Amino acid sequence: MSMIVRRLSRAATAGLVAAAALTAAAHSAEAADTLGSAAAGQGRYFGTAVAASHLGESDYAATLDREFSSVTPENEMKWDATEPSRGSFTFTSADRIVDHAQSQGMDVRGHTLVWHSQLPSWVSPLGAQDLRTAMNAHINGLMGHYKGEIHSWDVVNEAFQDGGSGARRSSPFQDKLGDGFIEEAFRTARAADPAAKLCYNDYNTDGVNAKSNAVYDMVKDFKSRGVPIDCVGFQSHFNSNSPVPSDYRHNLQRFADLGVDVQITELDIEGSGSAQAADYTKVVEACLAVSRCTGMTVWGVTDKYSWRSGGTPLLFDGDYNAKPAYGAVLSAFGGSGGPGDPGDPGDPGDGASCTATYTRTADWSSGYNGQVTITAGAEPISSWTATVTLPAQQSVSSLWNGTPTWSGNVMTVRPSWNGTLAAGASTSFGFTAAKNGSDAAPTVGTCTAS
Ligand code: G3I
Repeated sequence: MSMIVRRLSRAATAGLVAAAALTAAAHSAEAADTLGSAAAGQGRYFGTAVAASHLGESDYAATLDREFSSVTPENEMKWDATEPSRGSFTFTSADRIVDHAQSQGMDVRGHTLVWHSQLPSWVSPLGAQDLRTAMNAHINGLMGHYKGEIHSWDVVNEAFQDGGSGARRSSPFQDKLGDGFIEEAFRTARAADPAAKLCYNDYNTDGVNAKSNAVYDMVKDFKSRGVPIDCVGFQSHFNSNSPVPSDYRHNLQRFADLGVDVQITELDIEGSGSAQAADYTKVVEACLAVSRCTGMTVWGVTDKYSWRSGGTPLLFDGDYNAKPAYGAVLSAFGGSGGPGDPGDPGDPGDGASCTATYTRTADWSSGYNGQVTITAGAEPISSWTATVTLPAQQSVSSLWNGTPTWSGNVMTVRPSWNGTLAAGASTSFGFTAAKNGSDAAPTVGTCTAS
């Protein structure tokens, strides 16, 4: 599909524009309440890796849409996913993520064009000249399809070895094309989409060490010779064997001083509770201390889908409850009031809880009335928050017995007069929606209570 067709089809989503217009003022008033808006207050984006296969899960989508301002497809833009046989490109899953992100006003990071891993089997046997042609065709195929739609691309990923040598990693590209393959990939990428920021991305380069020194020397050389590079990505996968380095900020700064942006691209920190929260705080503070650190991405929405799920390294648990690390990140960005705020009686384990259920109470050809019933759990509550994600075309014209704020087509509703509920008691709010061609039901996300 060409970019022009993709753009026209998005512009034709009229209801989205209507929903955004209806809600703009209310949304800005709530600006410090989510990771994305708190980070935006500091001039940064806050993103997450996303898997297309989870977008249909309502709590996953509601959490994603509420909290994040950028997405990175976790696997869907990799070579094996997009060009499984030579010259035959498949964008179905990646398009799903990009379209979802754009419908929510989120940016997209592209990950990744040239990497030794997740390569389809046809690539490795190619001879040098053929491999060069295939590499450039792959870059052009991906970047052409998404031209103008990706804020930053990981052009080359993980090209250096771990350990003390600072050497390049063996790969089909390195072994057949030599060191020059990285430069060639960046030059091809610049021509393919001049608007995209072009990044080199790697892991175990977060502090000063032999590997980050080797990357540093490459970036310095590129800048001195005019090879197009705009940013360096620091994956930042941390655990007890690989903790947040004490010279993290210094390392980010020395790269920034070369004249590139720095981004934290795949952040996750194994652990739990206040220790994990304190480590997340260190990472946010390091980024905020470096003016060219333009944003950060955590490597997944919920612990249950993390590539390191056993280490519970993310900001939301498997039930999409905000963890202490969430509150730590929010407050490090200067935000407040989120469900993970320290001391918030609505935090998991504090006893206050609620459920939200949806019913359609009236229906006509162009619209319907919806009702969401909030029921307190085993303890009395003094307030509640429920999210309702509307199909993109639909717009809400009125809402009663609740106070809405909006992020894209996600409506977050809090009480107007009806926050206090006895244990097990219920209240409800209602709304009128215009279908604008879609009769689909909205989805109701997690109810939180205090
Ligand atoms: O989709 C198939 C499924 O059909 C099959 O049944 C299943 C059987 O194992 O595999 C599924 O594919 C898996 C894929 O994730 C999607 O879930 C692959 O086996 C698995 O290897 C792949 O893992 C990904 C990994 O990169 C591959 O190297 C992780 O999800 C992804 O989080 C991880 O991300 C990398 C970054 O791209 C680069 N930096 C490191 C980071 C963590 O390893």
